[in-house]
Amino acid sequence: MRLMATTLLMWACAAGALAADPAAMTAVAPGIWRVTLGTPESAVPTSLREFEPRGDGLSALPAAEAAPITAGDIRFKATPRGSVISLPMEKGEDIFGFGLQLTGSAKQTGMKRTIRVNSDPRMATGDSHAPVPFYVSTRGYGVYVDTARYATFYAGTHEAPRHPGQPGPTGKNMLIEVPAAQGVDLYVFAGPSLQQAVQRYVLFSGGGCMPPLWGMGVLYRAKGDSTAEEVLALAREFRARRIPCDAIGLEPGWHTHAYSCSYAWNKKHFPDPDGFIAALTALGYRVNLWEHVFVHPSAPIHEALLPYAGDRGVWGGLVPDLTVPEARAIFAGYHDSALVAKGIDAFKLDECDNSDYNGTPWSFPEHTAFPSGKDGEQMHSLIGVQYQRTLYDIFRHRNQRTMGQVRSSQALAAPYPFALYSDLYDHREYVRGVVTAGFGGLLWSPEVSDAASVEDLIRRIQTVAFSPYACVDAWYIKNPPWKQIETEKNNRGEFLPEWEQVEARCRNVLEARMRLVPYLYAAFMIGYRNEGLPPFRGLMADYPGDPAAFVYDEYMMGDALLVAPLFAREASRKIYLPKGTWFDFWTREKIAGGQSIEVPASRETIPVYVKEGCILPLAEPADHITPETIFKITAVAFGKNCAPRVLFEDDGETFDAEKGRFNRVTLQYTAENGPKMERQGDFPAVRYEISGWEHVE
Ligand code: GAL
Repeated sequence: MRLMATTLLMWACAAGALAADPAAMTAVAPGIWRVTLGTPESAVPTSLREFEPRGDGLSALPAAEAAPITAGDIRFKATPRGSVISLPMEKGEDIFGFGLQLTGSAKQTGMKRTIRVNSDPRMATGDSHAPVPFYVSTRGYGVYVDTARYATFYAGTHEAPRHPGQPGPTGKNMLIEVPAAQGVDLYVFAGPSLQQAVQRYVLFSGGGCMPPLWGMGVLYRAKGDSTAEEVLALAREFRARRIPCDAIGLEPGWHTHAYSCSYAWNKKHFPDPDGFIAALTALGYRVNLWEHVFVHPSAPIHEALLPYAGDRGVWGGLVPDLTVPEARAIFAGYHDSALVAKGIDAFKLDECDNSDYNGTPWSFPEHTAFPSGKDGEQMHSLIGVQYQRTLYDIFRHRNQRTMGQVRSSQALAAPYPFALYSDLYDHREYVRGVVTAGFGGLLWSPEVSDAASVEDLIRRIQTVAFSPYACVDAWYIKNPPWKQIETEKNNRGEFLPEWEQVEARCRNVLEARMRLVPYLYAAFMIGYRNEGLPPFRGLMADYPGDPAAFVYDEYMMGDALLVAPLFAREASRKIYLPKGTWFDFWTREKIAGGQSIEVPASRETIPVYVKEGCILPLAEPADHITPETIFKITAVAFGKNCAPRVLFEDDGETFDAEKGRFNRVTLQYTAENGPKMERQGDFPAVRYEISGWEHVE
C-alpha cells in the first residue's frame, strides 16, 4: 500500500526551509524505513538504545517491498519553534498510539496530542506516564518520530499546509510539531496490517521483554511502614491460606530516608535485612524494593554521583544523569552489591514521571541542565527508559531475569521487563491503559489497594488478574484488602464480618491467573519477545478492519482470549465480540461473534471469551512458582480445526534460553486423532505435563 504522493519540495522551498531528499529514505530493517528531515538533535531515544532491532522476527513478517509512505509524501519545515512535519492521511483512516493513554478516546483520529511525560494526566491532552511518539494507522502502517521532545501530533485535525497563491491541498493531514529540534528522523513501518506495524515497531525496539516465569504470578506490596516481622507474618499467612503470591514488595519504609532515597536499609524496621530476605526466600517469595531516582545526600552513592547530577534537585536529592554511562555504572554498581547480591529480585521505579501541576509539585523543571547537555524536557522523556536500563543491566549481567515496575517510559522500551502503574485511576481508566499501552510496546498493570465496596474490590482484582502484571498494591493498608476494604478500619485491624468469603472470592480470581501462567508465558516468550506481538492489546490490533472493535473497555490477552471486565457501579455491560465464534471461558457456552452482547454484573466471574480454533492450556494453580514447578495442564480445544498451541519451556530464571536451552512444547488436537503433545528442543527438564484434555464444541 502506498499513500498518495504529495509535494515535499514545494512546501519546503516556498517556506525556504530544509527539505528531505526523496531519495533519502533508507531501508533500515525488513519493512522499516528511515527518512532524515533537517538536522536532528543528538539526544534522541535511538542514540541511547541498548537493543538492536530483532532482524529474525522482522524477516519472519510478510515481506514489504516499498515503504508505505515515501519521502515524497512527507512535508517538512524547520522553524524557530522547531520542526513541522506533515504526513498524508486518507478519509476513513484511523489512528491509534502515542503510548499509554489513560484518558479520553483510544482512537486518536481528530485529536491533538502532546506527548508530554506527566504523572497526573487530567484530560486527554496526550500527557501520560509513558507517552510514545509512535502511532499506527488502520491503513496498516506505523510512524515513529525519534525524539525526546514533547512532540505534538495533530491527528487529522487540520488541513495540510498551503503554499501561498496556490490551491490548497485537500483533506486532513497528520501534522507533527517537534519543539526546539531543527530536524528529526522519522521511521516508517510497513504492515500490511495495523497489528503487523505494531509488531515491527516492537521488534525494531529489540523485541518484547523476557520476564521470569515467576513474573507471571502475583505481586503483593505491603504497607509502606511495615516492619520485617509484619511483612513476614503476611507472607506466612498467604502461604497458610493458599493466596497465590510470587513476589512481595516493600514500599518506602525500607529506606533510612525515602523522599529522596537513601537506598539503605532502615534498621529500626528491618534489623536484619539478610535474615529477612532469607526468610522470604525460604517461603518461595521474590523480593521487590520500592525506590525512585532522586538520590538523598545520605545515600552511599550521593558523592560519586555529584559530577553527574542535573542542576536542579528533587526532594532534597540529586537527579543523576542516567544517560551517561558513568552515572549508570555508579547507580547500578551500588544496587548490585548492596541489594541484588543480597537476594533482591526486582525493583519498583517510582516517580520517574513528572508532577508539576498539582498542589505539591515535584520533579525537575524543563529547563534543568544535565551534564550530558540534555535539558529537563529531554530528560523527562528519557529517564524512565534509562532508569529501567540501569537496573535491568544488573540482572542481565548476573544472568538472572527480573520483573519490575516503573512509573514512566517512552520509546523503544519493549525489551525492558517492567510494567507501568499508578494508583490514581478509576477502574475504566485502568482498563483503557491495558488497551492503549500495547500500541507503544508497553505493559500497563492496573492495581488495586482499598476499594469502594466488596464488589468493586472483586471487579478490580479480576482486572488485575487478567493484566500484564498482577499487583495488589497495599502500600497504605496494613491488611489485605479482602479482609477490609475501608482504609481506616483496615489499618485499625477491624475486619469485614464476611472477610473469609471475600478472601475466598479473591483467591479464586488469583488462581484463575495462575491457571493461565503457561499460556501467558508463551504469549510473552514467543509472541512478544520473538514476534513483537504485545501480549495485551486493544481489539483493534487484531480486528483493524472492524470499527465496532474500536472499544476501549475490552482487550486481547494473548491470541486466544478476549477480556471484558465488569465495573462494580454498572448493572450490566455491553461486550463486543468480533466476527467468528467465541466460547465463554468459564461456562464453555458457545456465542456467535459479530455482535454485542449484554452481560449482567450479577455474574461472579470476569467475562472472558475464547476464540474458536484455539487450544487453551489450563494449569493446576500453584500458589507460587519455583524453578522446580511442574505445571499439570488440562488442554481445552475450543471448536473444530484447532491451531497447535506452542508453549515455551525453559528454566524461567536465566537468559540461557537465548543460547537455545528451551523447548517448544506443541499441543495439538484433531477430531480424528484426538490430542497430541510434542516436545522439541534442548532444555533437559520437563515443566509441563498433560493431565487431561477437553474438547468443547
Ligand atoms: C506513590 C506510588 C504508590 C506508592 C507510594 C509510596 O508514588 O504510586 O504506589 O509506592 O508512592 O509512597
